[in-house]
Parts: sequence; structure tokens; C-alpha cells
Amino acid sequence: MTLPTPIVLDCDPGHDDAMAILLAAAHPAIELLGITTVSGNGSLEKVTYNAQRICALANITVPIARGANDPMAGKASAAPTIHGATALDGAELPEPTFKLSPLSAVELIADLVRNCDRKVTLIPTGPLTNIAMFLQAHPELHDRIEHISFMGGSTERGNWTPYAEFNIWADPEAADIVLRSGLPLIMSGLNITHQALATSEVLDRISKLDTKLAHTIVDLLKFFADTYRDVFGMPDPPVHDPVALAIIIDITVAKLVSAPVSVELTGELTRGATVVDLHGTTGQKANVDVAMELDVEKFWNMLIDAIAALGA
Ligand code: RIB
Ligand code: CA
Repeated sequence: MTLPTPIVLDCDPGHDDAMAILLAAAHPAIELLGITTVSGNGSLEKVTYNAQRICALANITVPIARGANDPMAGKASAAPTIHGATALDGAELPEPTFKLSPLSAVELIADLVRNCDRKVTLIPTGPLTNIAMFLQAHPELHDRIEHISFMGGSTERGNWTPYAEFNIWADPEAADIVLRSGLPLIMSGLNITHQALATSEVLDRISKLDTKLAHTIVDLLKFFADTYRDVFGMPDPPVHDPVALAIIIDITVAKLVSAPVSVELTGELTRGATVVDLHGTTGQKANVDVAMELDVEKFWNMLIDAIAALGA
């Protein structure tokens, strides 16, 4: 019998991060060891409170630890225009039901990795600050990491600047450390996550589950849809973050290509851009498996089945 894949989810909830938390908690192929938070969609305080509230909503009890408030270079910047003032606007959420871990994100990740009987997969769905700090602080644990499957970057244009995606833009130095780590990396950039659209048909399917959790998720995604329509003119919102986890659950959910990926650190107009060499023009060695095509039906079936499994 195949054991579930042990993971740590490092996130900045955020509507799509919240969906990744639910998928991680519900799917039988995943053992969610813990959640760590990083400022991004909102301040560290807001995204941590949101991680606690999503866990309370779905009766998830795993350790949650606060991580970095600021990027490795510079100051934090939040994305209130997309996720609202709370960083998770759109629905009434319950208050936390348990206290945060006393450990920092880096210490919790180290603890969970050190004590797990299997190699652990890290799933970052926000800026990569915590992950980079963990890799720098614990080189002795690198061989205990199975994959780092991150949502971030893009093989095409950006969403926060013309060429930079928000998670990478928010902490390019951290992304550079992760990309140079030599660990097995899987990148789910905007080029694939923009295929994970929460269409009206998807919302109807979730609504028909007719649980409090399902109705709350629909309300959250409707808020997300409104801001994405207002800010980006997209008719349906891309639910980015669960894609990085879905690939770990079932690698056939996406087509992956191995390619050299680096991050621009000094470009006046392009800082934070991921430079993905899909055609071997740089002569660099491939360091990332880049997700290119999403099996949309398989993805949404996986997510909606997870919401159903959580009941609540
Ligand atoms: O660019 C999309 C990413 O930025 C997603 O992870 C979203 O949650 C925000 O963090
Ligand atoms: Ca996120």
C-alpha cells in the first residue's frame, strides 16, 4: 500500500491558498504535516489568522506557525486589491479553534522534516521567504526534501508587473536561493494556473454539495471573481495555488517540461521575472520541472471531491 506523501504547506491565505489548505487536508494521497505562513496577500498577522480560520472552518487540526513578515531584501508588500482588506474577504469565517505553534515557520518546517519517517514535500504558495530561510538554516535537511512544488513565476508575462508574478516579485532573492538549491523543483506558474479557472459551472458544482463549507467556499470564490474581473478583466478567477499541490497528488494532472529557470534580480523593469529557457538558448542546465498544461477536468474533480470529503 502506498503511504500518503507528507507535505508542509507554506502559504499566504489568500483565497486560492485557502483552497490549497482544503485540498491538502482532504486528499488521501497527502499527509498534511503542518502549515506555515508568510506575508504576501496580506500582512503576516492577517494571513496567519486566515490560515487558522480556514482550519477552524474545515475542522483541520495541524500545527500552524508564523513565518516571515518581510522579504529577504526590502519591505513587505501586500496584495489587498485582490484578496480584500482581511486578505480573505467574501464570507463569514469562524474564529481560530487552537493556538499557533510557538515555533517559527523555519523551526516548524525543520522539526517536521527531521521527525518524518519519509522524505517531505514542501508546497509554497506565497513568497518563498520561509523556504529560502529554511534551506539556508538547515543544509543538513536538504536530503530529506522530496520536492519543492511551488506556485510562482510564469513562462510568459507577469501579473504584478508586466513580467513578474506576485509571489516571485515579492521576494526575488528568496526565489533565487530556491532556484539555485539543486533540490527537485516543480514550478506552477501563471501560464498553467490561469487554466484553473473557477467558472460558473465550477461554482455550481461546489454549491450543489450543499454543505456549510461548500457555500462558504462559493462565497469566497465569488469575491475573488469580482476582484479578478475588476483588476484584471478576467471573467473567471484563476485558482492558482492548488495546482502546485495537485501535481504532487497526481502528476498526470499537468504536462511538465524540464527547463533552466532563473529569476531576474536587478532589472529596473523586470525584477522578479522568472526567466524560463524552454528552447535551450541559454546553455544552462535544467533545474526545474515546469508545469505547462493542466488537465482542467481532473483538477476540478480533485478539488471538488476534496471539498465533499471534508463535509463540514
Ligand atoms: O500570483 C498568484 C499568487 O499570488 C497566488 O499564490 C496568490 O495567492 C498570490 O499569493
Ligand atoms: Ca498564495
